[in-house]
Amino acid sequence: MKTAVTAAQDSQAIQPPPESLIPGGRPTIFVTGAASGIGRACAELFARRGWFVGLYDINADGVAALASTLGEGNAVSGPLDVTDPEEWHRALADFWRQGGGRLDVLLNNAGILASGRFEEVPLAKHFAMLRVNVQGMVTGCHCAFRYLQRTPGSHVINIASATAIYGQPELVTYSGTKFAVRGFTEGLDLEWNKFGIRVSDIWPSFVKTAMADNFDHIPSAKSLGIRLRPVDVASTVWTCATAIQLIRKIHWTVGFQAWVLSLATRLAPAAITRWVVQRLAV
Ligand SMILES: NC(=O)c1ccc[n+]([C@@H]2O[C@H](COP(=O)([O-])OP(=O)(O)OC[C@H]3O[C@@H](n4cnc5c(N)ncnc54)[C@H](O)[C@@H]3O)[C@@H](O)[C@H]2O)c1
Repeated sequence: MKTAVTAAQDSQAIQPPPESLIPGGRPTIFVTGAASGIGRACAELFARRGWFVGLYDINADGVAALASTLGEGNAVSGPLDVTDPEEWHRALADFWRQGGGRLDVLLNNAGILASGRFEEVPLAKHFAMLRVNVQGMVTGCHCAFRYLQRTPGSHVINIASATAIYGQPELVTYSGTKFAVRGFTEGLDLEWNKFGIRVSDIWPSFVKTAMADNFDHIPSAKSLGIRLRPVDVASTVWTCATAIQLIRKIHWTVGFQAWVLSLATRLAPAAITRWVVQRLAV
């Protein structure tokens, strides 16, 4: 895993990409972590609705297999470790060429989770979550900027989590990474407004994916249950990407539980929220 950014890579990031090849062609979405779960469901939904889809994952065979099910000319796939800027540059350049010279939506979905008592989870696993969930998103936005800037109405959508609403025991670092996604999203949305680039994030509660295999002993997962399917999240991502909004909405909850928790943290005093989360999660 290469994470150091060299001066050459950084200067590459500020050079303009080639001109759009087919102005006005069909919209495109670049999905990270597309081989399974939520990323896969999003890719399938957007492809079904006529978008050109970029499928990227450390599981290169997984995304290649998915691409072959989406029909000739509808998708491109490739290997991508989201923590590696060089791989981002290669993947984005290929996607830009094959997708007709536009990047309408960058979906930063790739993520990992390690749960358990904070002091018992090995430090390497805490660091890995910070790298993939936070550094991966930051690297993706930095490398994709020049493509987003060249695409009118472009949009970055980051997959956060309901754990970005209130910190969760036994998911402490994971939850911390999702708070980072939340803050990053808010700040970058304000900063990139001048370029016409929107930035939003999605807050699902627990979803039945491979990641949920780790949820057995998470107290909040046991009390709330795992009720969402990847297609539920995909449907919210679709609305977030395509809805015409009079008032800009940055954070999108998925599921009744995340909506209630989000509302409660805005309305209830902090001490009450802490008490409720403690009852659910300890
Ligand atoms: N499952 C849930 O309950 C849940 C709830 C809220 C948010 N999320 C978030 O949704 C996103 C997708 O998770 P999922 O539930 O579909 O999990 P998943 O494990 O099914 O899918 C994650 C994908 O990311 C890929 N990936 C992992 N590390 C990568 C890297 N360094 N570079 C590129 N790809 C990488 C994996 O190969 C996998 O295909 C994550 O950001 C996760 O935190 C999940």
